[in-house]
Amino acid sequence: MALTNARSSSSSYSAEMDEAERASRDEIIALQTKRMAWTLAHAYDNVAHYRQAFDRAGVKPADFRQLSDLAKFPFTVKTDLRDNYPFNMFAVPREKLVRVHASSGTTGKPIVVGYTRADIDMWSDVMARSIRAAGGRTGMIIHNAYGYGLFTGGLGVHYGAEKLGCTVVPISGGMTERQVQLINDFRPDIITVTPSYMLAILDEFRRQGLDPRQSSLKIGIFGAEPWTNAMRAEIEGSFDMDATDIYGLSEVMGPGVAQECIESKDGLHIWEDHFYPEIIDPETGAVLADGEKGELVFTSLTKEAFPVIRYRTRDLTRLLPGTARPGMRRMEKVTGRSDDMIILRGVNLFPTQIEEILLATDWCGGHFVIELTREGRMDELTILAEVRPGSWNDDGLDEHAELVRVHIKNTIGITAHVRAVAPDSLERSLGKARRIHDKRPKE
Ligand code: DLL
Repeated sequence: MALTNARSSSSSYSAEMDEAERASRDEIIALQTKRMAWTLAHAYDNVAHYRQAFDRAGVKPADFRQLSDLAKFPFTVKTDLRDNYPFNMFAVPREKLVRVHASSGTTGKPIVVGYTRADIDMWSDVMARSIRAAGGRTGMIIHNAYGYGLFTGGLGVHYGAEKLGCTVVPISGGMTERQVQLINDFRPDIITVTPSYMLAILDEFRRQGLDPRQSSLKIGIFGAEPWTNAMRAEIEGSFDMDATDIYGLSEVMGPGVAQECIESKDGLHIWEDHFYPEIIDPETGAVLADGEKGELVFTSLTKEAFPVIRYRTRDLTRLLPGTARPGMRRMEKVTGRSDDMIILRGVNLFPTQIEEILLATDWCGGHFVIELTREGRMDELTILAEVRPGSWNDDGLDEHAELVRVHIKNTIGITAHVRAVAPDSLERSLGKARRIHDKRPKE
């Protein structure tokens, strides 16, 4: 059985930490203040968008003296990046870029981000630190099932794993049968993948008649989408592994902005020597105190090619004091993006709330989608919840679904339809899960 906390004592982890991880809070704040002044000047001097935005707000980089002064500077939002497609947000000549990545951009143009050699080195360092914080060590084998390509997941993890001195299996996403075969043959210690695709790999283990608890995997580094502690319990129990959370976004860098430490598993430590977090009220833009929930905002502190100033992530969370790394704050697990919030007849709902409720049943293993339809003038919400293979012949499925419906009504306050569907009937994601299927007519 996987433990809530890691298997080894925390002293064996602290020995491996780098200087920034061992720094005191005051040391981190001093470092951030110095680096923030550099970043603001670098962005102002080299990116037309930032120069204009600062000028419009009537602020100059020299107005920054302490971290609280950052609140005077304007936010950056996704459309700012999109409007400067493809290369106008870069603060260095294009020839200095060694790589670009881009967001998938389901609508409109993608967002392009770029890295200098030094940016890639920094990213590799924080990614190596993240893998180590998750319990990874030099010499381990990492099965990297994040997608390679324009998505930052595959290559971001890859470079960090090499830097730490691991053996990387760059399998990328997809070919699930092959994933299981290679896990069996290569016996990796670590898997890096989205939590929803990890469930697909789990199904494939069982389909092949293999016991996932006998696999070599000891550590999972799961992110790129919201997932709950109920999902952690499901994965840890099924594989007998430690499952940790990794957070990041292309605009800020990619994976490795924040990582959960294996010894505490209590939210994600933000690597504050490189990324400065704020929480704001999404309506007013006011900066909220640590502990209060709101929208996460990041300013990069060391990036050369693509500095971001007060970038609004739309991710909802709160900041908490550091624990396993006392100098750096944690962010609570992200419950959802403001974009993914469903408002059904005035009640707000996130897919993670449904995930938690479904995983609390003994018949649903965590595959589900939420369908939104419109009947007349009313929006209707239907949850299609896939039944675990072993539970499918159970006659009481309608009753089980009814219990979930009642539970959702009592806890979240919405009336949803719940349908138990056959094992393996819902489409599997190879990367980020698409939980919401909006079938309402477009206005
Ligand atoms: O998803 C980077 C990444 C790759 C992170 C691999 C972790 C592992 P984007 O495609 O730009 O970058 O998407 C970023 O994904 O703003 C969040 O909404 C969501 N997200 C990422 N990690 C988490 C997480 C990558 N651990 C967007 N929990 C972010 C919840 C996450 N949401």
